[in-house]
Amino acid sequence: MASVAEAREALLAKTPRSQAIAQDRSEILNSGLAANLEMPHPIFIQRGEGGYVVDADGNRYIDTSVGFGLHMLGHAHPEIKAAIQARTEEGWMFGIHTTAQMGLANLLHEASPCAERVVFCNTGSEATMYAFRAARGFSGREKIAVFDGFYHGAHDYGMWITDPGSPADAPEPVPMGHGIPAALRDLVLMLPYRRAAAFDLIRKHADELALVFIEGVQSSNPQEDAGEFLRELAEVCRACGVLFGIDEVITGFRVAYGGAQQRFGVQPDIATYGKVLGGGLPIGAITGRADVMRVFTGLAAERGVFSGGTFSGNPLTMEAGRAMVSHLRDHPEIYVRLDAAGDRLADAVNGFCQSRQIPAQMKHVGSMFHMFFQRAPVRSMRDASNHNVAAEKAFYLHALNRGVLVPGTQRAFLCAAHGEAEIDRLIDVFCTSLADVHNEGLFEEV
Ligand SMILES: Cc1ncc(COP(=O)(O)O)c(C=O)c1O
Repeated sequence: MASVAEAREALLAKTPRSQAIAQDRSEILNSGLAANLEMPHPIFIQRGEGGYVVDADGNRYIDTSVGFGLHMLGHAHPEIKAAIQARTEEGWMFGIHTTAQMGLANLLHEASPCAERVVFCNTGSEATMYAFRAARGFSGREKIAVFDGFYHGAHDYGMWITDPGSPADAPEPVPMGHGIPAALRDLVLMLPYRRAAAFDLIRKHADELALVFIEGVQSSNPQEDAGEFLRELAEVCRACGVLFGIDEVITGFRVAYGGAQQRFGVQPDIATYGKVLGGGLPIGAITGRADVMRVFTGLAAERGVFSGGTFSGNPLTMEAGRAMVSHLRDHPEIYVRLDAAGDRLADAVNGFCQSRQIPAQMKHVGSMFHMFFQRAPVRSMRDASNHNVAAEKAFYLHALNRGVLVPGTQRAFLCAAHGEAEIDRLIDVFCTSLADVHNEGLFEEV
C-alpha cells in the first residue's frame, strides 16, 4: 500500500528532467489546458512505441491517451511511418489540390454512412465550425442546439457549458472562460442530454434551429446505451425539419469502423471527423448529404459558404490517414478485440469497486473509457457534478507512478497495440490504485 504523498515523492524522484523542462518552459511556453498531465508537474514525452510512451527521463508508461484518442494502431505504426516517409520524398505541402486527397476522401465516403460528399480541413475544431456554418448557410437559420456535457472543439461557437444552477430540463449556456462574445449566447440552444425534455425544446425552437449537433458518444461520459437517444433524436429532428449532425471526431473509426453511425444504427444529415482519420497528423473533415454539402462548392453556389485553409487536405496528412484507415478497413478484427478488451477492463474495475464497496465506476464504449469517482449512477454529466476530485487526483497520480499514463482530460483509450498483457497490467494498476486511495480515506472527503 502507498499513500498519495509517497506516490508524489516517487514520481518527483524519477522525473527530474521533466521537472527541469517544466520550470524552464514556463517563461516562454504556455501550455493549453488539456495539453499535458500536471501530476505532480507535467510529464514531457520523448517518444512513443506502440501502446507505450517514454518520457524525458526514460520512464515507460502504458499510454491510454494515445494522442487524445487518435492512434488506433499505437505509436509509430510501421505502415503509417512508411506512408509518411514515402510522401516526404515527393514534397509534402503544395496548398493547391493534390492527387493524394482522393484516396482518403473515397475511404471516408465508403466508411461513413452519411458521407455523400467530403470536405477536408485541419482539426476537429475547424470541422465542427464549418459544420455549423454549412448548416446556417443551408437552412438560413442561426441557432445551433448542443447538449449538456458536450465538447465540439475550441472555437467560440462551441465554448459553452451548462450553468450548474439552471434546471435539469432547461439548461442555460454560460461561456467556458473569458473571451467568448456574449452576443453568441443567443445562437446556442443548450439541451439536456438523454432527457426527453430535449425533444420538446427542439420542437419548440424548430423554426430557429440550423442544426442539432451531438457527439456520437460523449467523451466526457461514454455509455454503451447512448444509441437509443441518438436514434430518437434523429427522428425528432427529421419530423421538425431541422438538420441533425453527429460529431464523430472521437467516435469515427474508434467505436466502429463506421463510427457511432454504424455502432448505433443512426444516420445524420452531416457528420464531422478528425483524430483517427488523419493517421496521427492534424485533420478535420465535414461529410454529409449531397444537397447540404453543396454549400461548400463555392460562394457562387446557392447559399454558398466560405471554406479554405492553407493546410487543408495536405498530402502528408492524406497519406498518413489513408494508411491508417485502409489498415482499419482491412482488419475488422481490431474492433472485435478492442471491444472485448474494453469490456474486460471495465468489468474487472467495476467488479473490484463493488466487491470492496469503493464509490467509483468505469464507463466505457468499446475502447474509450472514463472513470467517475462517485457511487451515484451517471447518465449525464449533470449527475457527475459532485464526484470526488481528491480521490480522482490521487488515483491518477498512483496510476502514473505505477507506469500507466491517463491523459489530463481523463478521457482514456485502448489501441490495437495494447495486448492482453497490457490489459492485465491496467486492471492490476487501476485496482491497486483504487485500493490505495480507498485505504487512505480519500473517498470519504466529499
Ligand atoms: C467530439 C470532439 N469534437 C471536436 C474536437 C476538437 O478536435 P481538435 O482537438 O482536433 O480541434 C474534439 C477534441 O477532442 C472532440 O472530442
